[in-house]
Amino acid sequence: MITGGAGFIGSHVVRLFVNKYPDYRIVNLDALTYAGNLENLWDVEAAHNYIFEKGDITDGEGISRLFETYHFDSVIHLAAESHVDRSIQDPLAFVRTNVMGTCMLLNVCRQQWSKDSGGKLFYHISTDEVYGSLGPTGYFTETTAYDPRSPYSASKAASDHFVMAYYHTYQLPMIISNCSNNYGSHHFPEKLIPLMINNIKNNRPLPVYGKGENVRDWLYVDDHALAIDKIFHHGRVGEKYNIGGFNEWKNIDIVNLLCRIMDKKLGRAEGESAKLISFVKDRPGHDMRYAIDPAKLNRELGWKPSLQFEEGLEKTVDWYLKNEEWVKEVTSGAYQRYYEKQYQK
Ligand code: NAD
Ligand code: DAU
Repeated sequence: MITGGAGFIGSHVVRLFVNKYPDYRIVNLDALTYAGNLENLWDVEAAHNYIFEKGDITDGEGISRLFETYHFDSVIHLAAESHVDRSIQDPLAFVRTNVMGTCMLLNVCRQQWSKDSGGKLFYHISTDEVYGSLGPTGYFTETTAYDPRSPYSASKAASDHFVMAYYHTYQLPMIISNCSNNYGSHHFPEKLIPLMINNIKNNRPLPVYGKGENVRDWLYVDDHALAIDKIFHHGRVGEKYNIGGFNEWKNIDIVNLLCRIMDKKLGRAEGESAKLISFVKDRPGHDMRYAIDPAKLNRELGWKPSLQFEEGLEKTVDWYLKNEEWVKEVTSGAYQRYYEKQYQK
């Protein structure tokens, strides 16, 4: 079972597994919230080894029924509320899904696998944000102490702790990976990169928080999916793995780079799109810098990112320009209301 498979990263993981492992039966459990979209998976929906189940991870009875139907031997858990700004607007939604939902899944796995946990695995997909905020130097390693600072990262940290607790207390076989910022196709346009691409295209202001000096470590989403594949098949049970892109960028530099790429693609004069940049009030508690040290993953499993950022960003821009319908669909209705609330002066 893959949870959250209709979302951004989940859809890339589902696609990879469905295409690469024809002998696996892959069940995608997703509640289809605003962030989940079955269009993301149109190309695999008819595959013989793929099944979609609409359901909520907080619904223990529903998950138990799925276990009884499919006898899952492993769970890759991506379903979550994932946007920091939304967690500031509505923290309890994050407690519900990320903490309660993860606990519910853990509990069902524990019950279902209690007689024989051999060959079973609960693989929890987490974030580097659990480690908090770095100054100008240093990196997050697997032993960095947790120091979450937003409701989103606190809820993800809590879920990581519960996964660990189920391992130590009930010997539930588990692995956790903590990844840096992903980018690529099917990324919901509430997050920095797709939001800026959409706004540049539509000549709307480009809202940069604070001075734009916060730093993130960006990884192409397919490289994250490949890391998940490696860890799922070859990672050591009971371990944590950090996944990162060796690719730190200040927000303002990314926005300027996107403006340059899109000036060319849209046939605008050089510097035209950058005129849209607008510095807006900062995100409360805005983490300054994230940077991952993925040495353990590289050493133990031989993983490293495959794509240069400039190349990945260009592919991403091309995807958004080619898939206007997708963007139109996900940015109608509720998105407009969220946008007005988030970016009101
Ligand atoms: P996303 O918001 O794009 O997708 C989340 C998916 O989960 C959606 O399909 C949604 O419908 C589903 N979902 C939400 N609540 C649910 C519920 N109660 N029951 C069942 N399904 C539910 O998220 P994403 O960016 O793809 O992130 C996926 C996972 O990876 C999350 O756990 C996130 O914390 C983690 N992560 C994300 C990033 C990133 O840069 N996006 C980086 C590191 C880790
Ligand atoms: O590090 C991993 C995390 O990366 C994931 O766990 C989260 O699910 C994912 O959303 C992402 O969190 P961030 O908060 O880093 O991503 P976001 O795209 O929201 O913001 C990236 C940076 O850009 C951050 O410093 C805030 C800034 N920003 C964001 C938006 C949406 C802006 O300046 N303006 C904006 O409008």
